Order: sequence, then C-alpha cells, then structure tokens
Amino acid sequence: MKLAVVGGGSTYTPELIDGFARLRDELPLSEITLIDPDEHRLGPVSGMARRMLARAGHPAVVSTATTVEDGVAGAGAVLFQLRVGGQAARNVDETLPLRCGCVGQETTGAGGLAKALRTVPVVLDLAERVRRLAPDAWIVDFTNPVGIVTRALLDAGHRAIGLCNVAIGFQRRFAAGLGVPPERISLGHVGLNHLTWVRSVHLDGRDVLPRILAEHGDEIAADLGLPAGLLRDLGVVPSYYLRYFYAHDEVVEEQRSKPSRAAEVAAMESALLDLYADAAVDTKPELLEKRGGAFYSEAAVALIASLVNDRGDVQVVNTRNGGTLPFLDADAVVEVPARITAAGAVPLPVEPLEPLYRGLVAHVSAYESLALDAALRGGERRVRDALLAHPLVGQASLSDELARLLVEAGRAHLPWA
Ligand code: G6P
Ligand code: MN
Ligand code: MN
Repeated sequence: MKLAVVGGGSTYTPELIDGFARLRDELPLSEITLIDPDEHRLGPVSGMARRMLARAGHPAVVSTATTVEDGVAGAGAVLFQLRVGGQAARNVDETLPLRCGCVGQETTGAGGLAKALRTVPVVLDLAERVRRLAPDAWIVDFTNPVGIVTRALLDAGHRAIGLCNVAIGFQRRFAAGLGVPPERISLGHVGLNHLTWVRSVHLDGRDVLPRILAEHGDEIAADLGLPAGLLRDLGVVPSYYLRYFYAHDEVVEEQRSKPSRAAEVAAMESALLDLYADAAVDTKPELLEKRGGAFYSEAAVALIASLVNDRGDVQVVNTRNGGTLPFLDADAVVEVPARITAAGAVPLPVEPLEPLYRGLVAHVSAYESLALDAALRGGERRVRDALLAHPLVGQASLSDELARLLVEAGRAHLPWA
C-alpha cells in the first residue's frame, strides 16, 4: 500500500518511519510519499527516511512532492501532520494569551483557538484536493487541535479519523509498569482530545487502576504536575493537558519565567534538520525523544492497519459522538475507545460520565463548536464568542481583548482578516 504524509517535511517524520520499519508486518507499505511545500525540509527529512528504511531492510520507496496533486494519487491512507505557520505562529499562540493572564498553550485555551482559526481552512482545502485524487483513502488526522479539525473534516464529508498519542502513551506506560505487553491493556479513556481521563485500566478484563494508583500514584501525579491527593481522591488519571485547567494559575506563573515550548522546539528542529542532512545518520536521533510525539507512529500503524484490513479491534480515536456521551451533540467529536473496521470507527458504549468531568467536557465541547464556526466563517465577533464560551477565558472584557489581539497577530494566516 502507498501511504501519503501531508506535512511530511516535519522533523517528526523519522518517528513515523521508525514505527513503519519496526511494524512492517502489521502494515506492509510499498511507498511512502512525503508531501510538503517546504523543500528545505523535504530534502533532509526524505534522505533520512530513506536511510532509515534501508538500514532496516524495508522495501518501501520514499517519494516526495510539494503539492497534494503531485503526491497523493494511489494512496490508501493519508496522514495529516501539518503545522500552519510553523513554530513562529505557535510561539504567538503560547505567548500572547499570557499577556492577559491566560495559559499559553498551543491546543488549549486561547492559543488553541488561534491555531484552529488558521488551521481548519488549510486542512479543509488539502482534504478536498486529496478527495479528488484519492477518493477512497482514509485521512488520519494528527493535526491539532485534533478535536476541532476532525469535526471540520467529518462535517465536510471526509473519511477522517483523528488521532493523538496521549492514550497510547498511557497504555504503553501502564503495560511497562505491570510488565505485560501493551495489547493486554485496555483503557477506559474518555473525554475530548487533550481533555481526557483514564477511569479504568483493564488487564485481561480486570480493572487494575486502583492497584496502579496505590503503587505508583505519586510518581504519576508528579509527572503530570498535579497533586497526588487529587489522583487518589478521584481514582482516575487525568491527561497532562488537564493541568492547564486544574493548575491553571500555577502554569501561568511558570510560563512567565521560561522560554515558550515553541522556542525550545524551534531549537530542536534546527538541530534535527542538521542530523537529517548528515548522510552518516541512519537511526532515529535521541533528540527526537525530547519531542511530545512518542508512540504516534505506533498509533498510526495500528489505526491504518485496522482500517485497511477490517480488523475490528478497539483503539482510542477521535470520532463522532453519536449517543456515546448523551449530554453532548451527536455531531460533536469525542476521544474514546472505538471499534475500527474498514467502515471506520464506532465508539464503544461508555459508562455515564460523573458530574465532576461532565461539566468540563460539555463546556469545552460547546467552545469547540463555536471555534469551528469562527474558523469557517471568520470575524472577530465569532472569535470573541468562542473565547467567552471557553472555561479558561469566559470573562467579557478579557474575551474582547484577546479576540482583538488574536485576530491582529494572526492576520497573515487568516483569509478573512
Ligand atoms: C503530544 C500531543 C500532540 C502535540 C505534541 C507536542 O504528542 O499529543 O498533540 O502535538 O505533544 O509536542 P512538542 O514536542 O511539539 O511540544
Ligand atoms: Mn495530541
Ligand atoms: Mn489578510
């Protein structure tokens, strides 16, 4: 099968190639096409990809294209992993909200809205072009904010599923802690993308989360930057993105006195590109481990393999809610375990969500629908409304001010501004 990667010039791509090489039996690939308008990245990244596959003895051909039209024909699946405006735009998302006392994060809060506004139109245009040339291909979307972008794709009628590495990261971590292969662990993972809780961890059908929390709760809480008592009391493991809610003011304080994540990543990216340009380097650099993308290749392989081979296994993905969380719109996109067949993803039933989580999920889901509306139709007023609906913003004058600043700063990437 041919796989196309839109945003293939990303410095993350070798992570993906590493997974394709290790998991070739699960997903046999004959061609990987890296599509990216940035030829300065495409050159070194594709060279690196070829050397990695050669070293692994993988038969796939790596091709490159600067447009969807030149690269996507014949693809069975298309992965979207692009970042409109690169780390420079991300840096604005992470620093501008801080000026107003709000968390500066690329997918959460005002920063996530700014990213959605510039990303949704670009992704929809690309997806339309993909559909013309590869109408049967599945689109697997890693492009953030994944919940909003996936909803945009589904609303436009695309065969799309959103994916994130948070769930697979927990599954791998818990499996390692228990000394069992990850396939034996299934997570009761529920919520929206980057707003999830793990409420159960089944090992061969038995819930071992209470044991995990009793034995490792302190470590897990420390890694998440949350109080250990909170995890013990709740009896769940929140994703690390919940820290932006549960410890918002603490995060803001920290962010004020350190460089943005975008600045850190920009430095890593230039070092990574140097490594990729080095013909002697043919294994995934250790530096890549410092990025947030661990296991995303394994998540992608598993999802694509189940879609093309109709495997019917259960994976955590972003897809339409339907009636899964009955307090949300059926059209909303949720991140839950779903059965994956050739027909797509069907969420498994979920135990009723406790009020402690339900309110926040409902609140953020409503924000997401307003954010999507703002991204599609534009206008500072709609941006303001989305901010007013966001639990981390919510105040009138703050929403007005942030809307004005975001539109002004994002103008270069906003077709309507
Ligand atoms: C995790 C998230 C991704 C996000 C990434 C950021 O993997 O699930 O959605 O893009 O972190 O990592 P970075 O290294 O760019 O900060
Ligand atoms: Mn993610
Ligand atoms: Mn303009």
